[in-house]
Amino acid sequence: MTIHIGAEPGQIAETVLMPGDPLRAKWAAQTFLDAPECVNEVRGMLGYTGTWRGNRVTIHGSGMGMPSLSIYANELIRDYGAKRLIRVGSAGAMQPDVAVRDIVLAQGCTAISTPSRGILREVNLAPLADFDLLLAAHKAAKDTGAQVHVGNIYSSDVFYDERPDLNEIMQRHGVLCVEMEAAELYTLAARHGVQALAVLTISDHLLTGDALPASEREQSFGQMIEIALKAAFE
Ligand code: ADE
Repeated sequence: MTIHIGAEPGQIAETVLMPGDPLRAKWAAQTFLDAPECVNEVRGMLGYTGTWRGNRVTIHGSGMGMPSLSIYANELIRDYGAKRLIRVGSAGAMQPDVAVRDIVLAQGCTAISTPSRGILREVNLAPLADFDLLLAAHKAAKDTGAQVHVGNIYSSDVFYDERPDLNEIMQRHGVLCVEMEAAELYTLAARHGVQALAVLTISDHLLTGDALPASEREQSFGQMIEIALKAAFE
C-alpha cells in the first residue's frame, strides 16, 4: 500500500490505462476486462486490474490536472512497478482541421508549468510519447476508422483560462489541442525509464464552440480504451 493507493504488492499490472475520471475507470474495467478486481478505492480514486485477451492490465483514475496525475503515476511506477502508462482522456481542439470526435495522439506536450518544474528548473525538457506505443496506437486508431491526428498538445494548469493570448500562441505554433495531464505523465515516464502515451478524444472546440453531446461520450471513451489496449498488446 502507498499513501494514495490501497492495492497490495502485485495487484497492479505493468500496463496501466489512466482515465481522469475514476468512474470511467470502473466502467472501462467492467466493460473491457475479464475478471476485473477493484484494487484501489482510497479517496474514491478507483483502480481495477483484470485481463484483456489474456494480458494483465490495470485501469486506474488519475484525477484532473497534473498534480493529481503526478501522485498516482509516481506511486504506480515507483511502488508498484508500472512500466507502460497510457492516459485516455478528453481535450479541447485548437486547430480548424481537428474536429469534435477526432482522436489526437500526443507526440509531445507543451506546458507553461508542470509539477516537475521545480526539479527541471531552467531545463525545458521536451515531454515525448514513447515511439513504439505511438506507432501502435496510430495503427489501432486507423483500424477503428477514427480520424486521427498526431502532434504537439498543450497541457494546461487551468480549465477556465483567463489568458486567450496563450491559446492563440499555441494555435500559431500548430498545437492540436489542450488538456491538463499528459506533460507530467511523459516527464515522469522519461525520469523513470518507462513508456507513456496519451490517447485523447476531442470533446470540445475552442475555435468553433462545438461540443461532444453527452449521449456520445461513453461510446467515444470506449473507442479510446480499445485503441489504448490494442496499442499496448497487439
Ligand atoms: N479537456 C477537455 N476540454 C478541455 C479544455 N477545453 N481545456 C482543458 N482541458 C480540456
